[in-house]
Formats: sequence, C-alpha cells, structure tokens
Amino acid sequence: MRAARRTLFVVLCILPLLPVKCSPVFGSNEPVQIIMHDEASPTWNLGPLDEVLMDVHNTGNYQLNGSQADAQWEALIPANGGLVRLGPHQELFMVSMYHQLKCLDIIRRDYFAGSMGKNGTDPLTRHCLNYIRQMVLCRGDRRLECVVDPFGEHAVQVRGTQTCHDWRLVYDHFE
Ligand SMILES: *[C@@H]1O[C@H](CO)[C@@H](O)[C@H](O)[C@H]1NC(C)=O
Ligand SMILES: *[C@@H]1O[C@H](CO)[C@@H](O)[C@H](O)[C@H]1NC(C)=O
Repeated sequence: MRAARRTLFVVLCILPLLPVKCSPVFGSNEPVQIIMHDEASPTWNLGPLDEVLMDVHNTGNYQLNGSQADAQWEALIPANGGLVRLGPHQELFMVSMYHQLKCLDIIRRDYFAGSMGKNGTDPLTRHCLNYIRQMVLCRGDRRLECVVDPFGEHAVQVRGTQTCHDWRLVYDHFE
C-alpha cells in the first residue's frame, strides 16, 4: 500500500505514443479551464458532472474480438484520440478517461492476439496494465458489492444500479 500511495503524486502523462508535455505554467488571471493541484496532474474544469444511474450488467457488446468489437471499442475514443488544448499556451493534454479506455482496448487487442498465437507482449500493453492499476487505486472506489458466494467463480454480485458521473459531458466537447 505504501508504494501505491507514493505513486499518487506521480504525473501520469506517460502514454509513450504521444509527445505530451506535462509541465503547464499558467498565469493567474487566465479563464479557468484547468484546475491545478499542487504537485499533481491538472484537472479539466468541466464544472460538476451530474450524477446518473448506470445499470451494470453483462453485455454482448464490447466483446474480445471481431469487427463489431473493434468498432465499438474504437467508438469510445473521440476521433482526435481524446486530446484537448487548454490554458494560455494551448498546451496539449490527453483526458485521463480516454487514456484509460484506450488502454483497455490496447490490452484487449494484445490479449486476443496472444490467444491467436502471437508471441510476446506489446510494451504498450505492459504500460497500460500498470496505468489502469494505478487509476483504479487512485480512485479508491468505496462502493460495496454483495458477496453472493465467497467460494464460487462469480463471488461478487455487481449487477444493479450504480450512481456514476455523467460521462457524456466529457464527450460533448469533442462533438
Ligand atoms: C473471435 O475469435 C475466435 C477465435 O478466432 C473466433 O472463433 C470467433 O468467431 C471470433 N469472434 C468474432 C465475433 O469474430
Ligand atoms: C512462438 O514461440 C514459440 C517458441 O519459441 C515458437 O515455437 C512458435 O512458432 C512461435 N509462434 C509464433 C506465432 O511466432
């Protein structure tokens, strides 16, 4: 746990594909587009996101492979890859939600390629697995999920309505 806490303050702009610079310096009288946190990643200031209810359930969508799965996973990311230019210097950022979704897609593709006999793991997959681990820890979700069978394969009952931030607002900017 101690190691996990230490990494909380690491700036997480590490997607190796993108030349993202993460040392923004903003004047104090600029319009508030970004919320700065001391020694931490800045946050895109979209105002408070509404709370919405999401029904968590298994789905035939977002499968591991196939052209429909490829298209669906791809459609989760805006056409420009989820990049925004913000601040007085119009610095380039990637929105964390899209980085996380992109990473899941990268892991998915590499996992399937492996199951089809591809040798070795893409270094990007290693990065993504670690990044997703850090993002999950960072959010410290304290929602309680019912344990229906402590010894069974599906020991936890996630099905049901969850309260979530309305992520549609994070997409609106890109349309
Ligand atoms: C996914 O891959 C498996 C193994 O090649 C194949 O049998 C299956 O038809 C694929 N699914 C889709 C939806 O393409
Ligand atoms: C993967 O590596 C193994 C062992 O080196 C080899 O036998 C196999 O042919 C390789 N498969 C592919 C798809 O390259």
